[in-house]
Amino acid sequence: MKNRTMKNTTLKNCLISCSIILMSSAVYAESTYFKVGTLIDVLKGKTLNNQVIEVENDRIISVSSANKVKIPANAMVTDLSAYTVLPGLLDMHVHLTSNPNKHGYRRLESSIPRQALYGAYAAKNTVMAGFTTVRNLGAAGFADVALRDSINDGEVLGPRMRVSGPTLCMTGGHCDNNLLPPEYDAHSAGATDGPYALKGKVRNNIRHGADVIKFTATGGVLSKNTNVNAAQFDSTEMSALISEAHDRYRKVAAHAHGAEGIKRAIRAGVDSIEHASLIDAEGLRLAKKNGTYLVMDVYVSSFILGEGEKAGILEESLAKERLVGKVQRENFKKAHEMGINIAFGSDAGVYPHGDNGKQFAYMVKWGMTPMEAIQAATSKAAELLDWRNENGQLNVGAIETGRYADFIAVKGNPLKDVSVLENVTVVVKGGNVIKH
Ligand code: ARG
Repeated sequence: MKNRTMKNTTLKNCLISCSIILMSSAVYAESTYFKVGTLIDVLKGKTLNNQVIEVENDRIISVSSANKVKIPANAMVTDLSAYTVLPGLLDMHVHLTSNPNKHGYRRLESSIPRQALYGAYAAKNTVMAGFTTVRNLGAAGFADVALRDSINDGEVLGPRMRVSGPTLCMTGGHCDNNLLPPEYDAHSAGATDGPYALKGKVRNNIRHGADVIKFTATGGVLSKNTNVNAAQFDSTEMSALISEAHDRYRKVAAHAHGAEGIKRAIRAGVDSIEHASLIDAEGLRLAKKNGTYLVMDVYVSSFILGEGEKAGILEESLAKERLVGKVQRENFKKAHEMGINIAFGSDAGVYPHGDNGKQFAYMVKWGMTPMEAIQAATSKAAELLDWRNENGQLNVGAIETGRYADFIAVKGNPLKDVSVLENVTVVVKGGNVIKH
């Protein structure tokens, strides 16, 4: 464990100048140091050799060449000189409270408390795989808020979470509960219709702890009786929902496969399109012009078509996946070639938590360089997330002074073979080595 006590000499030197800091901060820690063999600087898109990262409390306070730093003799040092070190990874689309073995009607077996407990298990697998920050897009009963807060309070091991609460959708839309016969009258909490009803849902999600708003702008693959091509919500509804969220300083993510729903959401000012599978030429142009992020889950199709049936996915959904999976990958390639903003998002929860990193190889196969794929999961994702400290600086996504000390170490060179990110050896979150 780290030495978190302050030494007497330091205390004396500090007594006057630091008294204000000491009074105002509960924990005062000495710096700890991480020696790094190769560091990936995602902001500059290059690597640096023999670096030292200095950490105080949970933040990075300096990154410098080893020959320029004088590490105090008694300091706590973690030696990562045999590794490539990069920022903790960000996944912009997960469902930690979803169990990938329970699809279709099996989804109905789990109560919300059960889903929250499953989330604790999924959170651990996720952070141990090197994903130190996730955006959770859709959870019943605010189980995601509970999980986020429990992780923050140190009760559960997991990534930093930014969460949406229940997904918003129209009656019978992709997020609604369409599985039970009408006499059950079972609806998801986020299902409603009309601009003001939607504003109310946005307000309620924020009231109960949402950091971000998620809605569905088209049908989905895994929902019963929805059409992936069909737009969901009209433009007035989308604009009302999005402006309400933006007024409250929340970003908005729209699930959308079909071309019309994608364009409608972009025109209404959405911040990211999730999936974006069937985006057309006009949609690509709009995304480029508006700077809209595309979060394209280009691995998940392999799981759905390979193992989905055993996991309970309905035949109807498998048929829809056959329509979107391949086209989505082709459109990912086009979007990347056009220089559209792309952030890493996996839809883990549909498939096992901790396998998020499998997507990197697909992003490279479909056109990105390994550096671009890594940036999509670090600096680019952090821009989309737009989560900032009191100085307005981004909290995560790069090994940079001021950001959280979240980084990972891998054996080998992910810039040559990006699949090495499927096996992360060391995970540091907030300066604590949680996996080595
Ligand atoms: N949650 C998404 C849906 O149900 C999964 C789509 C996965 N397929 C894909 N090709 N990305 O629509």
